[in-house]
Amino acid sequence: MIAKRTIENLDAAAVLGQRALVRVDFNVPVKDGKVTDDTRIRAAIPTIMDLKDRGARVILLSHLGRPKGGVAESKYSLKPVVPVLEGLLGMPVTFIEDPATPAAIETTHKLPRGAVALVENTRFQKGEETNDPATARMFAALGDFYVNDAFGSAHRAHASTEAVAHLLKPAVAGLLMQKELEYLGRLLETPARPFVAILGGAKISGKIDVIQNLLPRVDRILIGGAMAATFYRAKGVKTGTSLVEEDRIGMAKDLLSAAGDKLVLPSGGVIAPALDKPELRREVAWDAIPDGWAMYDIDATTRTSFAGIVMGAKTVVWNGPMGVFETPPFDAGTLAMAHALADATAKGAITVVGGGDSAAAIEGAKLADKVSHVSTGGGASLEFLEGKVLPGVAALDDRTP
Ligand code: 3PG
Repeated sequence: MIAKRTIENLDAAAVLGQRALVRVDFNVPVKDGKVTDDTRIRAAIPTIMDLKDRGARVILLSHLGRPKGGVAESKYSLKPVVPVLEGLLGMPVTFIEDPATPAAIETTHKLPRGAVALVENTRFQKGEETNDPATARMFAALGDFYVNDAFGSAHRAHASTEAVAHLLKPAVAGLLMQKELEYLGRLLETPARPFVAILGGAKISGKIDVIQNLLPRVDRILIGGAMAATFYRAKGVKTGTSLVEEDRIGMAKDLLSAAGDKLVLPSGGVIAPALDKPELRREVAWDAIPDGWAMYDIDATTRTSFAGIVMGAKTVVWNGPMGVFETPPFDAGTLAMAHALADATAKGAITVVGGGDSAAAIEGAKLADKVSHVSTGGGASLEFLEGKVLPGVAALDDRTP
């Protein structure tokens, strides 16, 4: 387990009256100046409340979107987050427009104990994404100690996630970061068995490292999504117009021979001549996709067999949809997996949903609170499962026994 020092390891004197500079991941969808999904903001509330309740002055840093090269663009402003945060905390939140000014530092010092401020998008600073030391020093001047609760951004070595953690001490994990590292870390280190991974999504290329890292650790990897078609081709069958990564067929062959029967492909799929012709859909066996037809979901037989394997597991991790879940009726396979995870959890299994599309699917199915953990990180949880070191985590203080 990655043992990092957390806010729970800080004693009262280290927190009371101190300025806590907290990196959160408020990279949330905003439409017409309004936050349309506040999941990530809600996920950071326990850390903010804990620090507030212990009398810290809380200064929040986050990025939003991908503004180009440190240019401030109003569509990427964090201002729309302020009313949402105020609603969740039940108190006013100060907005710091330009952190690179003496006035910003003064504002942080003048914040009353237990008050909260939010700094404008870190990516409006030119040196943020280059992990520039001067930019990190500028951020560090806004706090007395550093907390990273932005698991979703921990795979980025940026000034507000990495360099600043070397400058501002102590540099500790927040409660969300701690929870993410515990759940995801347990998967790689001490999973209760049987341990089953469900991997889906369009492309095998984005999942190869995960498959390779998980293969020696899991009992089964269930494959769904369009990437199943690349595996079918590796087995020498035709796949119609299904999405196939031609340049990865060789790699798929290697994975199949290395994995033996650990890698389970769908026994059949839901096919249609086009995504906008769902009325023509039908189910066929994996090796019977006709010319001109594409696979858009796993079939009912696969749903049942995958669900059975999941129900027999003690640990399950799921990353990537089983089909084109954003276009019903091709969401049936993905929904079936969401229900299987919820059922397995009720039976006592530890179930973890990687971020991104599978998190959106489980939330859409209203089952997010029926699984053990839904990660707030898309790219970050994938890199974690690939076995990579996340720079934002590595930079934090190690926990001393
Ligand atoms: C995410 O949404 O995955 C994180 O907030 C990271 O965002 P990024 O991919 O723009 O760095």
